[in-house]
Amino acid sequence: MNVAILISGRGSNMKNLVVASQSSNNNTQIVRVLSNRKGAPGIKIARDLGVVTETMENSTFENRNAFENRLTSVLEEAGAELICLAGFMHILGPDFVNHWHNRLINIHPSVLPAFKGLNTHQRVIEAGGRFSGCTVHFVRSGIDDGPIILQAITPVTTTDSVAALSERVLELEHQCYPLAVDWISKGLVSIVNERVVLEDASTHTNSLLTSPHWKHPVPGAAIK
Ligand code: GRF
Repeated sequence: MNVAILISGRGSNMKNLVVASQSSNNNTQIVRVLSNRKGAPGIKIARDLGVVTETMENSTFENRNAFENRLTSVLEEAGAELICLAGFMHILGPDFVNHWHNRLINIHPSVLPAFKGLNTHQRVIEAGGRFSGCTVHFVRSGIDDGPIILQAITPVTTTDSVAALSERVLELEHQCYPLAVDWISKGLVSIVNERVVLEDASTHTNSLLTSPHWKHPVPGAAIK
């Protein structure tokens, strides 16, 4: 399966997907890594891993449609069958999302549908959330919306900082994204009534990933 990855910055999820694609027993080829931001560190990482890269800045296009139409042309020319958003800081319009219906996935650093949008870890901590995690999902027109493929969770402690929580969630992201792409490439994922159905029982068992911190008791004072 030909996969393209869209990034805007660091690119750690992208790197993980590329490395997974280059391992044995893997059905995917990364045909393009594209950034909408000039100087995104992930572009150099992708290039060093031997992937064809491209930078296409939104600001150089007349409007959103012009940018997204060009994006579709580039991705189609590259032969992409699945598009993975990995820290792509651009809200895609309905035409693009509909064009790539069920062929466009995203990773978000929260247990969706909770905490959509930006500054997730800060908001989880401020809300006193007991758990956080990540979600890989098909993309629909709403922000961080769409059928959930895979989630993983980690406890949130009362002393957690944004940096510590985001580091633990990122560890989970790095497990989940390649696994979700692997399931899709093996034809194990279908969507029925806007819900993901996984092909065999073992994928269901795997679909609750937990962090190494899982065994720690969740702190939180009992209410008397
Ligand atoms: C990740 O936390 C991802 O969930 C979110 O943006 C961040 C991108 O990080 N959508 P990286 O560029 O993959 O390191």
